[in-house]
Amino acid sequence: MKRSILAALGLATSLAMPAAAEDIKVGLLLPFSGVYASLGNEIEAGFNLGLAEFGGETDVTFEILREDTEVSPPAALGKARKLILQEQVDVMVGIVSSGVLGAVRDMVHGAGVPLIVANAGNDKATGAACSPYITRMSFSNGQINRPMGTWMAEQGIETVYTLAPDYAAGRQMIDAFAETFTAAGGEIVGQDFTPFQKTQDFGPYLAQAASSGADAVYVFYAGGEAIAFVKQYDSFGLQEDLPLYGSGFLTSPLYVNAQGEAAEGVVTALHYAPTIDNAANAAFVASFTAETGRVPSEFAVQGYDAARALIEAAKTGANNRETLANALRQVSFDGPRGEMSIDPATNNIIQPVYVYETVAGEGGLTQQVLAQLPAEADPVNGCEMAAPVSN
Ligand code: PHB
Repeated sequence: MKRSILAALGLATSLAMPAAAEDIKVGLLLPFSGVYASLGNEIEAGFNLGLAEFGGETDVTFEILREDTEVSPPAALGKARKLILQEQVDVMVGIVSSGVLGAVRDMVHGAGVPLIVANAGNDKATGAACSPYITRMSFSNGQINRPMGTWMAEQGIETVYTLAPDYAAGRQMIDAFAETFTAAGGEIVGQDFTPFQKTQDFGPYLAQAASSGADAVYVFYAGGEAIAFVKQYDSFGLQEDLPLYGSGFLTSPLYVNAQGEAAEGVVTALHYAPTIDNAANAAFVASFTAETGRVPSEFAVQGYDAARALIEAAKTGANNRETLANALRQVSFDGPRGEMSIDPATNNIIQPVYVYETVAGEGGLTQQVLAQLPAEADPVNGCEMAAPVSN
């Protein structure tokens, strides 16, 4: 078994053979506790699968060091400092929360450590606070929600009430949706932001939405908050008169079964659904399902593609902070989500966005794709990308 695969499985350091330095030291910085813990575990599962599947394309070996962000910006900053200064990692992969990404951005940029963002959509990290060291293999908050504002207006929805957790991702996702929805003639008749990681009872917020007179509700919630929100929305009996829409994290395949029937009929937009029809996705769904016993979610594909990007970079001969940063911004491949590339102006990913409805299928809930919206590069949003680092 190649050592790169053993490293992915966390076994590299326990091998009973003379300790050989791995070629590339990777810091995996993810939430393994807190409201996004399941997302962190899923990204790691996808990352390990990607290393195992594509690792054979290079002789380079990877040592993986994992740290828990706890979905806490101060805790994550401490862990990033440890990985960068003490462990001297060559590259970091991960970050789920936009708040955490905002907190570690300056340290990553200042230290010149490449970071492959495997979730956090914070628009600023590929906008005004962009960096040649930050490359995003996931999505940006604006990218997912902008197309949905236009699409919903085109479906004849005239008025919307919005809800989201009160932190960077919630604000950015709702702002992006509202911008295109109103530009297309729609009206936001009310909005609220719920305390992040603290709201268990959405009842008071749902009562406001119900009395707003809106045609529909549009939200961003993820992880444990998404499960609670969708179940409570259903138990309030709102879905029939006030259909629920959102960014697709709301009904992620990762936890849609925990929502059960409450998720049926919810329509959302996202850069990935396991039902996307292409050959790379069919192979990915088969291998991820064989490995874990569940279909992959957007979080799994982000980890998988992050591993592939790392391997593509390593294949160019890059093996330290500078050369890896430079190579990562130039990767491009067709993966399970379709055609994708990195925008050199911002280092953000360019990819299609899919509108899907959660429906009952033969083996439980599934994602029925209603529309594929074109891949668009984000506006540069004030990003002044420094000249590429020298090789
Ligand atoms: C974010 O904070 O950027 C974030 C978190 C969870 C998601 C999506 C975005 O599912």
